[in-house]
This record gives sequence, structure tokens and C-alpha cells, in this order.
Amino acid sequence: MSFATPVLRKNLRGRDTNFPMPEQPSHGADAPEPLAYVLGEVRFRGLVLAADRRAFIPRSGTEVLVDRCLRLLRGVAEPRVLDVGTGSGVIALAMAAEHPRARVTAVDVSADALALARENAVRTGLAGRVRFRRGHLLAGLAGPFDLVVSNPPYLTVAALELLDPEARFHEPRVALVGERLGPLIAAQARAALAPEGRLVLECGAGQAAGLAGELRSLGYESVVATPDGDGRDRVVEGTRPVARRLAA
Ligand SMILES: C[S@@+](CC[C@H](N)C(=O)[O-])C[C@H]1O[C@@H](n2cnc3c(N)ncnc32)[C@H](O)[C@@H]1O
Repeated sequence: MSFATPVLRKNLRGRDTNFPMPEQPSHGADAPEPLAYVLGEVRFRGLVLAADRRAFIPRSGTEVLVDRCLRLLRGVAEPRVLDVGTGSGVIALAMAAEHPRARVTAVDVSADALALARENAVRTGLAGRVRFRRGHLLAGLAGPFDLVVSNPPYLTVAALELLDPEARFHEPRVALVGERLGPLIAAQARAALAPEGRLVLECGAGQAAGLAGELRSLGYESVVATPDGDGRDRVVEGTRPVARRLAA
């Protein structure tokens, strides 16, 4: 089965969906289950979040992304934050927890992921702090936002085949496979960011230089990459100029 072309389908719980979702593989059911799914929870910064097959398991590397976001929002009294592809809600909830006056919106195409994210908001006592909505990237979100952050799926179908079986066969395919979603989010965010608003994107190892180039060609300024703990650039950020000098 090819996952290159998303198809309209019933989602993992059998509900109809109007959003294109890639098929979950039926084979590989005997692959070992990720520990977080077995335990039913995962820790991220100070939060203990529920984890199950409805959503991607938060990775420790995403802490670099959250660190960058918090640093960029220092001194912004009530930042308006958008988390695109929220999954378990981890980034949105960490931002709400660590920036007490942030007003956070979180979007995901997956109804299952959003259900888990909402449960995690209640579980962490942050339910009133994050507005969750279902949608495709930034569609229908006018902003303005001071920060747009995303850890989008960034594996090619070929790269997915090299992923360890735990993730490949148990985590939602829609959370893993995505080509050029980072540049697409960057293009859409130009209209949704406030002047001097920041865009912060996580990307795969080896993708940062290309993504940084895309941001520059879209007109973003102060484009920089930040390495993870292994010294690989995994986070790329840029600033929307004050005046509208962004490329069309
Ligand atoms: C790699 S996971 C990241 C989840 C979480 N933000 C994290 O860092 O752990 C990517 C998420 O993007 C969502 N996603 C994929 N395509 C999307 C789209 N077109 N619009 C909105 N969300 C999408 C997936 O459902 C998944 O929850």
C-alpha cells in the first residue's frame, strides 16, 4: 500500500472524516509497542501526559523547540500562540504552562489526536488555557499570532521504511509522513503572523539548511537554526518583517 497519496477514509475510530488522512498499515501488528503506549503516559518538561495510539509520542528533542519559543516570547506580555499539528497537545500545553499569560490555539487534522490533546489539557489543569480546533494547517486561522510553532510530520515514504518498527507500525501514519509541510506552514503563516511575529519549526536531521533557505526566500528575516543535544540542527526559526516585505 502506498502512503504517498493521502486518501479520504474513516479515521482510526471509524468516524467519517472530511480531511485527507493516510492509511494506517495493517501489517506489523506484532511489532513491539512503544513504551509510552504500554505505560499510557509520557513526561515532557514538567508535564505528565497521557499517551496512546491516537497521537504521536512527544520526543525529548522537542524540548529544544519549546525552549526557543519561550526565549523568543520573553517580554511579550500576552503572546498569541498557534501550535500547528498539536498531536497529544504537548507543545501547546508546555507553552501554556511555562508562559502563564500566553493565549494558545492548537490545531490538528486528526480528530483522534485532538481528543487526546483535550484530555491532556484537563489532566494538566490547563483546559482553560488552550483552544483546540480541527483543521488543515492554518486554514481558517486569520491570527494575528505572535508565534506560530509546529513540529509537522517530515518523513518521506521512503524514510518511513527505515524507521524503527515500534514507531512505524504503532504511531499514526498522519503524524509521521509529510513532505514539504514545513515550507507550506511557513508560506501560510506569513498572513497569520503579527509584524515581527516568529515562526519556529522542527524538522528532520539534514533538513534544516534547506528549510532555512525556504524561509529566507519567503521573506522571513533573522532566520537561524538551533541544534539538538546531538549537535544536529533540528529547529529553524524566522521573523515576519514589520513592513510587508514578504515574498508573494
Ligand atoms: C510529528 S506529530 C507532532 C505532534 C506534537 N506536536 C509533538 O511535537 O509531539 C505531527 C502532527 O501533525 C498532525 N498533522 C499532520 N498533517 C496535518 C495537517 N495537514 N494539518 C494539521 N495537522 C496535521 C498530525 O496529526 C500529528 O498530530
